[in-house]
Amino acid sequence: MFPIDRPRRLRTSETMRRLVRETILSANDFIYPLFVCEGENIKNPVSSMPGVFQMSIDNIVKECEEVKALGIPGVILFGIPAYKDEMGSEAYNEHGIIQKAVKAIKENVKDLLVITDVCMCEYTDHGHCGVIKNGEVDNDETLRYLALETLTHVKAGADIVAPSDMMDGRVEVMREILDEHGYHNVPIMSYSVKYCSAFYGPFREAAESTPKFGDRKTYQMDPANRTEGLKEAALDIQEGADIIMVKPALPYLDIISDLKQNFDRPVAAYHVSGEYAMVMAADKLGWMDGHRAMMEALTSIKRAGADIIITYYAKEAAKALGK
Ligand code: PBG
Repeated sequence: MFPIDRPRRLRTSETMRRLVRETILSANDFIYPLFVCEGENIKNPVSSMPGVFQMSIDNIVKECEEVKALGIPGVILFGIPAYKDEMGSEAYNEHGIIQKAVKAIKENVKDLLVITDVCMCEYTDHGHCGVIKNGEVDNDETLRYLALETLTHVKAGADIVAPSDMMDGRVEVMREILDEHGYHNVPIMSYSVKYCSAFYGPFREAAESTPKFGDRKTYQMDPANRTEGLKEAALDIQEGADIIMVKPALPYLDIISDLKQNFDRPVAAYHVSGEYAMVMAADKLGWMDGHRAMMEALTSIKRAGADIIITYYAKEAAKALGK
């Protein structure tokens, strides 16, 4: 007896495989993260993320031109401020590093979406994502500063704001302050389901944002929880989120799939620094074909349900895919 159904028939050539391919990646799917620092003509390599740099604004603008030419629709900016203090005051300084970078990009590069990460951890001297009161990260006090940070980013020209702090109620205060100032049309892409993850390690080197004491377990989610992801996303949508995000991506494909199936909002996935570093390291050691692993990872994230993928591989993948 021979099998009647032979799935191999549809795998006989690349042309045949192309015909029945279910998931097609495109440069349109990507957002490229950038780390902005003070100074001029600076391009400091991040050792745990080969190919990623801390760059001053002049170099960031050049980089944005390249990103746009590759057909990638947007960048997300992270700031390394001139100085840090207890209250993270550079986060909401009108002349802060992000505010200046957004202005420069908007003035020089047309038709590229500039997204800003809204959080306190890059700006506080203690490295936590909010302000500290009585020894802990105070939720409601932090909301006031996040709202101010949001407004300064949007006044500078940010096209989308992306809160990554994981305070309760932040989407609501952000929507409120934006609407009060006439920015009804600026979307919020919320890091809705953000886990307390070891995979952020290399990012903290890039953004110089490792917490000086304790950890982020009282605000970022427990990796063991799945239903809680649905709750976080539902709350953010209720508060006004336009795009909901899962972070990290590859270890949380179940959550990406849950959000895609349960909500009518575009789903973003953040393929984070550790996911990138892991593949780069294995490739360097000759243990894996890094390029193939990258394309497979990105395809899997899209297959799970992500409409948008934030990835340090955006440029390399866009080059491979063509426009
Ligand atoms: C800021 C923030 C982090 C990342 C994005 N925004 C770090 C963190 O929460 O510790 C991580 C991104 C990455 O690892 O690539 N809160």
